[in-house]
Amino acid sequence: MDDNKPRIAVLISGAGSNLQALIDATKAGILKAEIALVVSSKGKAYGLERAAAEDIETMVFKNKKYPSPEEAGRDLVAKLRERRIDYIALAGFLSLLPVAVVRAFRNHIVNIHPALLPKYGGKGMYGRHVHEAVLASGDKESGPSVHLVDEIYDNGKVLEQAKVPVRSDDTPDTLAARVLEQEHKLYPRVMQKLINGEYALD
Ligand code: GRF
Repeated sequence: MDDNKPRIAVLISGAGSNLQALIDATKAGILKAEIALVVSSKGKAYGLERAAAEDIETMVFKNKKYPSPEEAGRDLVAKLRERRIDYIALAGFLSLLPVAVVRAFRNHIVNIHPALLPKYGGKGMYGRHVHEAVLASGDKESGPSVHLVDEIYDNGKVLEQAKVPVRSDDTPDTLAARVLEQEHKLYPRVMQKLINGEYALD
């Protein structure tokens, strides 16, 4: 444990390639922070294996296991506080983050979304659905957005975006891969800038 560095919890549900990018960035010194905890909404997620391989503490958190959303929120906030978490990075976390967590960590929670918000955001807009919608629209560009998390899905202030071309022969998979490559560069950079206090927050 490094006592001087800000401590980040990364919340995942799946592959965890953004988690890996954040871990790699801490090792490379691009992100001067410690990935102190990985929380998964699913018991089986490849991201949990990535965390274990790096000796990072992991936790499975399922909203539905609690009698109410309020209790789920209280418990998660307590667990994050116990581990002295300073920032939360949502990275493919498919569960609704309890409001108590949003309130306890306001301006310290970010999410990465695989499209140029405010387009293609909101409920149901995740994974393949996003890229299918972009292709159907005829838009000529797409790319990831990193935004602050508030009480509404994909609604918080956009901190940064990266743009990639949409090609005429793209499939959802080829477009997703092009966007994901940018996500891995963008997310660590934005986290460091957030830690540095480089964004005007609400
Ligand atoms: C990414 O496309 C991210 O934008 C979205 O979920 C996906 C997570 O991928 N929120 P991974 O688990 O980081 O590989």
